[in-house]
Amino acid sequence: MTQHVGELNPPTRLMLTPGPSSIDARVYRAMATPLVGHLDPWFKTCMDETQILLRQIFQTENRLTMPLSASGSGGIEASVLNALEEGDEAIIAVNGVFSDRMFEIASRATSKVTKVEAPYGLPVDAEDVRRAGQGKKIKLIGLAQGETSSGVVTKIDAYRKVADELGALLVVDTVASLGAVPLHVDRERIDICFSGSQKAISAPPGMSPITVSPTAEEVFRKRKTKVQSWYFDLTTAMNYWGKERLYHHTPPISLIYALREAMRIVLEDGLEARWERHRVNQLALIAGVEAMGLGLLVKNPADRLPTVTAVMIPSGIDDVKVRNQLLDEFNIEIAGGFGPVKGKIWRVGLMGHCSQKPNVLLFLAAIEKVLSDQGFRVPAGAGVGAAIQSYAHAETATAVSR
Ligand SMILES: Cc1ncc(COP(=O)(O)O)c(C=O)c1O
Repeated sequence: MTQHVGELNPPTRLMLTPGPSSIDARVYRAMATPLVGHLDPWFKTCMDETQILLRQIFQTENRLTMPLSASGSGGIEASVLNALEEGDEAIIAVNGVFSDRMFEIASRATSKVTKVEAPYGLPVDAEDVRRAGQGKKIKLIGLAQGETSSGVVTKIDAYRKVADELGALLVVDTVASLGAVPLHVDRERIDICFSGSQKAISAPPGMSPITVSPTAEEVFRKRKTKVQSWYFDLTTAMNYWGKERLYHHTPPISLIYALREAMRIVLEDGLEARWERHRVNQLALIAGVEAMGLGLLVKNPADRLPTVTAVMIPSGIDDVKVRNQLLDEFNIEIAGGFGPVKGKIWRVGLMGHCSQKPNVLLFLAAIEKVLSDQGFRVPAGAGVGAAIQSYAHAETATAVSR
């Protein structure tokens, strides 16, 4: 029974996945700083600072703003379970796996949830949501700003209008978009907005930042029944993250340190500069893959989520073999597709710390080599060349606009 287990020594990967993304050395260092107790006076200040940073990243003044001790799915649970009670009507816009998860979770809270769908590769039309809600008393409309399973971004404004017309709360999943895609929680009047630590914020997985408007807080207070989940009952969880700092559960202290440092980096970059960096890097990636003769799942450029690019797998090419070779030969991880697009797309993530020019150029060079080995003809250097041109155009455009 004596089996030796060696010291932990993970490989250093470049995670060009739809999450988690690679993280900055400063974030590793923050995680390795001394643990304190969750009620230590020093930690209470650290919590205040974490909330200050979260409010800036969400662009909100919401009092109820905190990181949940959970991955992004916990953010979905908390949002819909706090807002919905049995008998309430809700509409969820579903265009992929993660928005469907919101539908699934909402359906566990109430039997009256309508799914309004769009195929993978398209956003759900807010008009379809409006039609589905007409004549009904809709309490909540939910959507994913960034649908990671298909690489689609959904514009929030049209949804806010529909939610206003129907008198509904607006819930937005920004797990794959916060810190990479323009978002102004207060200006866009999002009632509940949640995210994940491991994507464009580039902290380790395990925290789900969430922010709740005063209107939604009021809805929580007026509930007739208890929230099904004790852990995610925001009114009690907030006693710890609110003024009282009352024990609720023991939070992952080291992950909070990491999130705090990752958010400091986001704000040092500047939100707008970061949004622009994600846009420019994705344009270069797309120019590169298209120059190699590869297609994209999302046809309309305006619908492309800057953090996740869904690349069509050419016929005759083995999805898994390509991904394994990228990992073994280049230490690069990308992801395959889910559900109806399984085996049909690769999902290349350029999120947060990973959204960098050297990574784009390295990936394009690596995929060219791997595809050539698999028998797919790629004009030598075409991908890297096109990406370099795309960067040159972006630089000229910036210089002209100055
Ligand atoms: C848009 C979106 N929502 C929710 C989730 C679920 O997050 P997690 O896997 O951290 O629970 C993900 C994960 O990829 C996601 O991309």
